[in-house]
Amino acid sequence: MHDIDLERLGEEVPLLEGIRTTRAIRRLRPDPVPEALIRKVCEAGTFAPSGGNRQPWYMIAVTEPERRAFIAERYRRAFELYIAPARKAAEGPDFPEERRRNIAAAVHLAEHLHEAPVLLFVAGWTRRGQEQSQALFPCIMNILLACRAVGLGASLTTVHRAFGREIDQYLGLPEKIPSSAMLPIGWPRGRYGRPRRKSVDEVLFFERFDPEVIEPR
Ligand SMILES: Cc1cc2nc3c(=O)[nH]c(=O)nc-3n(C[C@H](O)[C@H](O)[C@H](O)COP(=O)(O)O)c2cc1C
Repeated sequence: MHDIDLERLGEEVPLLEGIRTTRAIRRLRPDPVPEALIRKVCEAGTFAPSGGNRQPWYMIAVTEPERRAFIAERYRRAFELYIAPARKAAEGPDFPEERRRNIAAAVHLAEHLHEAPVLLFVAGWTRRGQEQSQALFPCIMNILLACRAVGLGASLTTVHRAFGREIDQYLGLPEKIPSSAMLPIGWPRGRYGRPRRKSVDEVLFFERFDPEVIEPR
């Protein structure tokens, strides 16, 4: 890592190619991530648009092992409750293989979360007493794309929210600045690649939507 020019790293990935090959990377190596790189991906977050250009975001990068363990223990508990119905459904014979793999990756992340070298929280100002997660998602997406550009693995998680204030207090966040997302970040064990997504032709309409095409959910 030491002979890599961190300032140049990621600067040459074409924007659209980077977008098309950013997927949830949940299998991470425990090796540390240089602070300069954490700063670099978070800087990408600060270029996101926001209502009235209020830039409501703050980022907290948790790297100390005991602090990561505290958070991981709670994440695991919340995740168990969240994933239980999907796990049960996945036992069925007709369960789609793609979805089964997705669940396996999410389970892996939950079981190994304490090993992820960086747990990056994105928090933001409430407005009129309401949490404004949607105001943070452009920032979060920029961070995920910047991770892709520099070769870091990352994914977007929210289940820690089940612990409400406990984790926020642990992070020193005041009530007016709740965390909305946690991004476990580290060097990927796997590779970036095109994720499976619907074709644009299934979702794009010109002038008028056609309700006939909707698949029942
Ligand atoms: C709002 C939101 C919340 C999410 N929360 C979690 C989470 O708590 N845990 C998790 O493992 N993945 C979480 N994800 C990641 C999705 O599961 C992932 O983006 C999706 O499965 C697609 O994965 P892929 O990019 O590898 O195809 C979340 C994604 C979004 C957009």
